[in-house]
Amino acid sequence: MSATRWFLGIAVGAVVLASQMGHGGGCGADEELFGPPTESTCPTPTALTYENFGKPFMERYCTRCHDSDLVGEQRQGAPSFHDFDTLFGIKAVSDHIDETTAAGPAAVNRGMPAEGLIPTDEERYQLGEWIACGMPE
Ligand code: HEC
Repeated sequence: MSATRWFLGIAVGAVVLASQMGHGGGCGADEELFGPPTESTCPTPTALTYENFGKPFMERYCTRCHDSDLVGEQRQGAPSFHDFDTLFGIKAVSDHIDETTAAGPAAVNRGMPAEGLIPTDEERYQLGEWIACGMPE
């Protein structure tokens, strides 16, 4: 092997390694990040509101990464425009939240959070219900 090819091999290897490392904490869960829509329905009446459920749920499990006040590495890889510190931010991507985090008749989605404090399935069903109800305040 010539010196040039040897160097090229090292360089390519380093790039691949760096891109894998840069991918960060979400990596292991990648294949299972998104599940199918939960097909949750809204019972009448529903007791779940943003104040008594949505807000505390997001603050407990999500906003340490998904918060509009966090920038750069503070986000721990959480994508832009996925900020759950406001109802507006939640509503903007509620279908993605359903497919990664909620539970219902069609699926129990456990893609998020990838690590740390994890909601119970019971809470995931409540999340599915609250989203299906249109995320009342
Ligand atoms: C430890 C940090 C962290 C926490 C806590 C966390 N996430 Fe994430 N979230 C991420 C990362 C990193 C990604 C990107 C994962 C990837 O692309 O593989 C992500 C991606 C997502 C996506 C997909 C975005 C897209 O459309 O590509 C959704 C939806 C999501 N998270 C919702 C949530 C919800 C809801 C919670 C709380 C129950 C939560 N996350 C908690 C770090 C976090």
